[in-house]
Amino acid sequence: MDNTSALIERNADLFAGRRVLLAGFADTAVLSAAPADWQLWGWDYADCQAFTRSLGESAVCFSHLVPALEALDAAILLMPKAMERAAYALAQLAPLLGSGKPLYLIGENKGGIKRAASLLQAHGQTPVKLDAARHCQLWQVQVESPATFQLDQWQQCNLIELADQHIDLISLPGVFSHGRLDEGSALLLQVPATLPTGRVLDFGCGAGVLSVALARRNPQCHFELLDVDALALWSAQQTLERNGVNARVLASDGLQAVHGMYAAVVSNPPFHTGLRMDTGIAERFFEGIGKHLLSGGELRLVANGFLRYPPLIEAHVGPCRVLLESSRFRVYSALAG
Ligand SMILES: C[S@@+](CC[C@H](N)C(=O)[O-])C[C@H]1O[C@@H](n2cnc3c(N)ncnc32)[C@H](O)[C@@H]1O
Repeated sequence: MDNTSALIERNADLFAGRRVLLAGFADTAVLSAAPADWQLWGWDYADCQAFTRSLGESAVCFSHLVPALEALDAAILLMPKAMERAAYALAQLAPLLGSGKPLYLIGENKGGIKRAASLLQAHGQTPVKLDAARHCQLWQVQVESPATFQLDQWQQCNLIELADQHIDLISLPGVFSHGRLDEGSALLLQVPATLPTGRVLDFGCGAGVLSVALARRNPQCHFELLDVDALALWSAQQTLERNGVNARVLASDGLQAVHGMYAAVVSNPPFHTGLRMDTGIAERFFEGIGKHLLSGGELRLVANGFLRYPPLIEAHVGPCRVLLESSRFRVYSALAG
């Protein structure tokens, strides 16, 4: 059992027999920590699929918005990697619960749980640390007079200025590079070469900046944007609409929901899972993407220069060359055989 689930088990009396919303949980072990009527609100598609297998579809909601559940006794938020996403989720959980109901925050010491008191104070006067064990803490506040949640107060719209175009980038808290253009993505967008004609997959689209810029430069292409994060998918959809770009957006864990063949695949692939560096997602992406590239199709990606991706790309796609590099990043291109 993971550490946060073990902490919940130590405090099972708080939840036993109650209808409790788990928010942002990744490990289904929590379901056996207490005999509660568990509901799940998640924003990671893979985690939500795992909870759906255990709880059934009706108890799981994959969305940027909290599900409109009634008669909840409590909610527990697992501290997300990004502090701003914790504030965003708590701002939705508090009004859903209503005054007098307990709102819990749990997380690892190294995952920012030490900020629990200040995060919870926005929703009730006296947050209490209930327990600490296994490098984790469990906090609680009684919700007081919650304010109505307004999504537009949380979304950011930032103007991204490229040499050839301006993009209104819309993003929600915790979406990669929230409110700005990532240095690696900016380098990829400096490559002048056009993309092969046809379907183009944007793997790990975030708020959609790569697709908007490249779709405008490559009107002969049809873009499909994929991400595992519900807040990224919503942001990407908004960014596309705001910038007048027509494209498809889909939820997927890795290439799981990808079907058919593409003329090109573009990506700034993830190399973190939660708090930890993890190149596993990118490695599985390289292993699988060759099967979805047409002959002569291009994989174009940007990555930190220290990541040893070229041998993997060459093993699964084709000869890999550097199109552009900076002191920190490299843009690679490989053509499928
Ligand atoms: C480095 S960011 C790039 C975002 C965007 N393309 C940009 O350039 O700003 C990587 C993206 O991959 C997504 N991601 C992480 N794990 C994933 C997975 N297993 N399947 C699909 N997308 C994933 C993250 O949510 C994030 O939006």
